[in-house]
Amino acid sequence: MKIVKTVQEMRQLSERVKIHNKSIGLVPTMGCLHNGHLSLVHKARKDCDIVVMSIFVNPMQFAPGEDLEKYPRDFDMDRRLAKRAGVDVIFYPDTKHIYAKGFFTFVSVENMDKIWEGKTRPAHFRGVCTIVGKLFNIVDPDIAYFGQKDAQQVAIIKRMVGDLYFNINIVIAPTVREKDGLAMSSRNKYLSSEERKAAQVLYRSLHEAEKMIKNGEKKSDNVLEHMRDVIKKEKLAHLDYVGIVNHEDFSSVSEISKTSLIIIACYIGKTRLIDNFGLM
Ligand code: PAF
Repeated sequence: MKIVKTVQEMRQLSERVKIHNKSIGLVPTMGCLHNGHLSLVHKARKDCDIVVMSIFVNPMQFAPGEDLEKYPRDFDMDRRLAKRAGVDVIFYPDTKHIYAKGFFTFVSVENMDKIWEGKTRPAHFRGVCTIVGKLFNIVDPDIAYFGQKDAQQVAIIKRMVGDLYFNINIVIAPTVREKDGLAMSSRNKYLSSEERKAAQVLYRSLHEAEKMIKNGEKKSDNVLEHMRDVIKKEKLAHLDYVGIVNHEDFSSVSEISKTSLIIIACYIGKTRLIDNFGLM
């Protein structure tokens, strides 16, 4: 497995791969790898000749006061896990290369980046789209892989790819969960053991919603009210939002259908966790 640190070296490597008519799969990450990331690598390994994983904690997607400084970083562990999963190249650039002096250009998917996650984290998706756009231009993948856990990120990246004519297929892999249902996330590391137990409430509320819908409930308001009640009962949980939206544009829907997605963001202690459940 190769570790590439500069934009120039990554570009040259991709060009060589393309000259030999081989395909590139990109798994963008911020490191602190877990089985969710590794499931993306396994998919990429099956589809593509060369698997590139980027590891870059992107400062542009963190607001002042968020967890940029304490975001978990363990490159040696990531390197071992990536190698074992079958990654060919880790792209591990320096912040000063990615955001060189005089950097002024951002990519934003307007409107969709202001709602739900975007309301609580106003500059987040602009930061995500900017780095993902840069990675697409540097690595030049045929396919890029993202996890469904970050459902709004997925919808926004798909829109960016469509709107800006990136010639890249986006593949979405299902959320990987712990045994008790908690969605895998690098931020789960912040939870104390008491909080870790309390964090089950996100999945529990989604599961309760699923049961109601399976039993014929079609009104979003009724499902959302029940979810709020479930969350209220967990004393360490503080709900940020819960919603039922169209999975493509994230607009709220009052009648639940096959294209609906139930989304939730909840603080457990100080840690903010997100999850979702699709009805597709
Ligand atoms: O989902 C993530 O880990 C990040 O938002 C991404 C896509 C790697 C961009 O920094």
